[in-house]
Amino acid sequence: MSIFSKELSDMDDLFVHTLRDIYYAEGRIAETMPRMIDKATDLELRSSLQHHLDETRNHITRLKRVFELHGAAAKGVRCPAIDGIIAEAEEIVGETADSAVMDAAIVASAQAIEHYEITRYGTLIAWAKELGRDDCAAILDETLREEYAADGKLTDIAEARVNRLAA
Ligand SMILES: [Fe+2]
Ligand SMILES: [Fe+2]
Repeated sequence: MSIFSKELSDMDDLFVHTLRDIYYAEGRIAETMPRMIDKATDLELRSSLQHHLDETRNHITRLKRVFELHGAAAKGVRCPAIDGIIAEAEEIVGETADSAVMDAAIVASAQAIEHYEITRYGTLIAWAKELGRDDCAAILDETLREEYAADGKLTDIAEARVNRLAA
């Protein structure tokens, strides 16, 4: 369903729709990350992806809690944006033979995922506050902080080592 659909008539609908979008996205990310970890060779990259995979599973748990607080059914709606980001990640990772180049490609793909999550959670927090759901906003903000931290960690790893080895 498009966000311009007539079925979304107010901000509450939009909030629930976008929650379902990120719920679907987090599920797809949790499915994809083990393959990225498998392909990564840099040890710090592997361990930080593993750490964030554990956090990602908790993001799904937190979203269930937000659905519950808001009285909406916890279900996903297909999100073509994350499907595209993941398809591109799998394509790049599949085409790369050199392990250092592979690590650089994994960092880039993982950061594209984080940036998608950051934009969605940022919007959801603003809308939750607008709707008077500070309780939901606080939970979503815990996740947003972890997305920012994961993104920052990937930048550190890339700048410290991965990009230089791939060059
Ligand atoms: Fe997440
Ligand atoms: Fe994430």
